[in-house]
Amino acid sequence: MHLIHILQKKLYTVIQRGLQNDFEVAKIPGKDYKVKDMGLAPQGKLAIEWSAAQMPVVIKIRERFKKEKPLKDIRIGACLHVTKETANLVITLKEGGAEVALCASNPLSTQDEVAAALVEEGIKVYAWRENHDEYYWCVNKVLDLEPMITLDDGADLINTVHSERQNLIENIIGGCEETTTGVIRLRAMAKDGVLKYPVIAINDAETKWDFDNIYGTGQSTMDGILRATSVLIAGKKFVVAGYGHCSKGIAMRARGLGAHVIVTEIEPVKALRAALDGFWVMSMKEAAPIADIIVSATGNKDIVRKEHIELLKDGVILANSGHFNVEINIPDLEAASTSKRKIKPNVEEYILKDGRRVYLLAEGRLVNLAAAEGHPSEVMDMSFANQSLCTEYLIKKGKELKPDVYKVPIEIDNQVAALKLQSMGIQIDKLTPEQEKYLSSYEEGT
Ligand code: ADE
Repeated sequence: MHLIHILQKKLYTVIQRGLQNDFEVAKIPGKDYKVKDMGLAPQGKLAIEWSAAQMPVVIKIRERFKKEKPLKDIRIGACLHVTKETANLVITLKEGGAEVALCASNPLSTQDEVAAALVEEGIKVYAWRENHDEYYWCVNKVLDLEPMITLDDGADLINTVHSERQNLIENIIGGCEETTTGVIRLRAMAKDGVLKYPVIAINDAETKWDFDNIYGTGQSTMDGILRATSVLIAGKKFVVAGYGHCSKGIAMRARGLGAHVIVTEIEPVKALRAALDGFWVMSMKEAAPIADIIVSATGNKDIVRKEHIELLKDGVILANSGHFNVEINIPDLEAASTSKRKIKPNVEEYILKDGRRVYLLAEGRLVNLAAAEGHPSEVMDMSFANQSLCTEYLIKKGKELKPDVYKVPIEIDNQVAALKLQSMGIQIDKLTPEQEKYLSSYEEGT
């Protein structure tokens, strides 16, 4: 299976290198890029500026990087969603002295105007929305920079280095991984002893996971569903698959809009937590026949599959907010259907054999990034502050680290939280000397 996947990727790369299409390829002298349309750059510049105003922590780090140049002469390869927030991250890295190449971590998440603006900022960008066929061509273009640091959201860049471009490994100091799905893949590689350089799990920082995953996914998923469908959420039976951080955020926000929220789970503790948080908890087989909307955010595959599709109600909406488009089994949906048609952007109607209609959003890909703009800048501020500071950390310390998956150093996590609080004008208390002593002693009791 692995070999077939590698051959498939190679084939894509070879075929697509020979193809002509209407994208803009490096027309500007001295710049290498491939984006949808450089004419969109002024619009992208404004979007990046708007986002920067909501990202005070990243901007503070940028100001220091600009003075200290801690990333001088470092080549960075990044495979991240190409959004206005990512733009602020890569501009920060460039201000720190790095040379940066960027491709998208999902074929539907690129904001074309942002990609164009980044080319003008001096970033090598290979990204446009709907780059399904050339996805791995873009990944390989980023790797042509021979990066010393890799930044991933979903581990496709690291995976390509390990499967196809092993010659690059000797120059790679380390990497950062943004998301749960990527961290799961990397831990599996480390467990099998095949991971060849150290990687920091940005996802697992408290200032990432407790905010981006919950509040970011919660809000942006509802945003994506609403922009795509404009349906009323109040009164709907809204099924959320999973009760991890991301799915919990979605459940919270759907409840806030007045839905009857049902959670499905496979882990007893999480299911119990959902039940005591006041959600209905049941199996997907029980939920499928009553659902008006089903959203998956589990990181696993086949959450909605043949046996559930058979039970769906006429008119049900299916969406996914997990990293890969495998949570809703689309081949099963295709097999159960007699026809499909596009109703409007990001909404496809499938007609099942008995006439029931099923609406699939954003081709089963990340609905929050494909149909909306991804997580709000305010939470990405913390995630990308962690990315910036961990990149700096890897340059200082990476050579001392063995290949493995590492936590974000606690000092960085605390620094990000402190800077964010400062930017919000929030003061917190300090322990008195007596309190500190009390916490480290055992003498005082009843
Ligand atoms: N992942 C989720 N939302 C994002 C955003 N706005 N930018 C980059 N990556 C994201």
